Amino acid sequence: MNNVIIAPSLLSADFARVGDALLLVESSGASWIHLDVMDGRFVPNLTFGPKMVADLKKRSGLFFDAHLMTVEPETLVDSFIQAGADSVTFHLEACIHAHRLAERIRSTGRKAGISIVPSTPVALAFEMLPYVDIVLVMTVNPGFGGQKMIPGCLDKLNALRIERQRRGLDFLLEVDGGINADTAPAAIAAGADVLVMGSSFFESADPAGLVAGILKRG
Ligand code: DX5
Ligand code: ZN
Repeated sequence: MNNVIIAPSLLSADFARVGDALLLVESSGASWIHLDVMDGRFVPNLTFGPKMVADLKKRSGLFFDAHLMTVEPETLVDSFIQAGADSVTFHLEACIHAHRLAERIRSTGRKAGISIVPSTPVALAFEMLPYVDIVLVMTVNPGFGGQKMIPGCLDKLNALRIERQRRGLDFLLEVDGGINADTAPAAIAAGADVLVMGSSFFESADPAGLVAGILKRG
């Protein structure tokens, strides 16, 4: 394979030093940065908005991967696209007209992603697969970094990988929650193309070594 993408999550960075965090991600060999947007309603936490994304984008050539954990994502996607997000992923649990929203994101030339929380059956995503570029499988209950992966959620990656092949589709499979050097191999084996890494990346004494180790095995 060896096409695995590492996406460190800014959520686990020191918010007093986000610029430094961006530089750390760039120097680590990771090519994406994952931006967790929380609204205090879809999840019981708050993070940051489009201004943070716009200010960081001016300083970085990383791929900006926005993950909206918000109700009514259709009210927010335009501002994150304007801010420079390269992909915008929203939750199917939060959006009735997912097809319309994915088409809107794609019409701007950015990648459209859909996500499901651990309690949502994977089949809920099947209808949307031809219309998206990313399917993000949450392997923890969203809202906080530093949680342990719920191992059963990896079965969803397998199911999506098989469905992708069966239908000749080409979206990326992204996994988010509890990914570290120990859990990454199972996630990759299950079909993950993109690994979000929050606490394991920012708490690592050697982030570049962590990334290199996973890319070598991936
Ligand atoms: C959780 C977020 C994740 C989070 C992952 O709600 O969607 O992206 O940053 O953090 P870790 O890797 O620590 O589980
Ligand atoms: Zn996320």
